[in-house]
Amino acid sequence: MTDAVRHLIATAMAEVKHLGTGTAYAPSNIALSKYWGKRDPVRNLPLNSSVSISLADWGTHTQVSAAPSGEDEVLLNETRLSAEDPVARRALDFADLFRGDRDLPLRIETRNTIPTAAGLASSASGFAALTRALCATFELDLTETDMSRIARLGSGSAARSLWHGFVRWDKGARADGWDSHGEKLDVTWPAFRIALVRVDVAPKTRSSRDAMTHTVNTSPLFPAWPAQAEADCSAIIADIAEHRFEAVGARAEANALAMHATILAARPSLSYLTPQSWHVLDQLWRARSEGLCAYATMDAGPNVKLIFLEKSTSDLHRVFPEATVIAPFG
Ligand code: PMV
Repeated sequence: MTDAVRHLIATAMAEVKHLGTGTAYAPSNIALSKYWGKRDPVRNLPLNSSVSISLADWGTHTQVSAAPSGEDEVLLNETRLSAEDPVARRALDFADLFRGDRDLPLRIETRNTIPTAAGLASSASGFAALTRALCATFELDLTETDMSRIARLGSGSAARSLWHGFVRWDKGARADGWDSHGEKLDVTWPAFRIALVRVDVAPKTRSSRDAMTHTVNTSPLFPAWPAQAEADCSAIIADIAEHRFEAVGARAEANALAMHATILAARPSLSYLTPQSWHVLDQLWRARSEGLCAYATMDAGPNVKLIFLEKSTSDLHRVFPEATVIAPFG
C-alpha cells in the first residue's frame, strides 16, 4: 500500500470497529469542459483539468450495509444483479478498496434517478454516492476532498460528483494522484439551466474507458487536445465567476465538439453521436441564428444537453418541446 489514496483508506479502515448502514446521495454532473484521456489509467488521472455543473436531484441514491445472506449482494434500481454483472463487479471491486482482505460481505443497494449508462454519467454519481455510503457505513472521518480522491478511482468524472453546483477537477501533477480531486467553485448562478434532449437512452456501446485509450493511442488530433481543454477549462471558470453566459455556452459547445472531433478522428473511427444527435444540433444552430440563446454539450453517448438561462426556457421549449429542464441551483 504505497499509493497515497489507498493508504488514506487503509489508515481510516484500521480504526473501524463497527459496521452500520450508510446511505448517501450524489448528483450526476455534466462537464462544461471535458475530461478525455488519462495520464494514469489505474488511478484515473486525467491529462487535463475539467469543470462541471451538477444535476441537482438527478443522481444516485446508495445504501450500504452488512449482507444478511452472508454473501455480497448488489441491487440496481431494486433488481438484484448477478455476481458476474459488470455493474455489480465494478461496485464490489470498489468496495474492496475499503474492505481489503477482510471478510465483510456487503449489500449495496443503488437507485439512479437517471437512466443507467445513457451517456449521462451515471457512473459519476454512482461512484460518488458509493464512496459516501461506504464512508458512512464504516463511519470513516474523511473530508469531501478525500472522498473525491477515492471516488475518482471508480470513475474519473465521479471526482466532480461530491458537490452540487460548479466543480473543477484539477488534473494534478503528482504520480500518486493526491492533488487530482474535485473542488467546488464558490459561485451560485440560480438562472443557469441544463436541458436534456433524449436521443437514445439505451446503454452506451463503448465504455468511455476503452474509447479514451483508443483516442489517445490512435487519433492524430489527440496531441492538440490536452492544452486546448486546459485553456477551455480556465476560460470557462473565469466566465462562470462573472456570469458571462454566452462566453460559457460558446466555449462549452466548442469544447464538446473538439472532444467529439478528436474521438471521430481515432483509427478506426469511433463516434458517440448519431444522425439524431446531429439533427438536434442542427435544430439548435438554426434556432440560435434566429435569436435563441442556448448551447449544446455531448458526452460519451448520443444525447444532447443544452445550456441556457431561465429567461430562455419558453423559447427553448418551442424548439425542443420534449426537453427535460434541470435547475442545478434548485
Ligand atoms: O468518468 P468517465 O470514465 O465516465 O468519463 C467521462 C467522460 C465524459 O463524460 C465524456 C467527459 C466528462 O468530463 O465527464
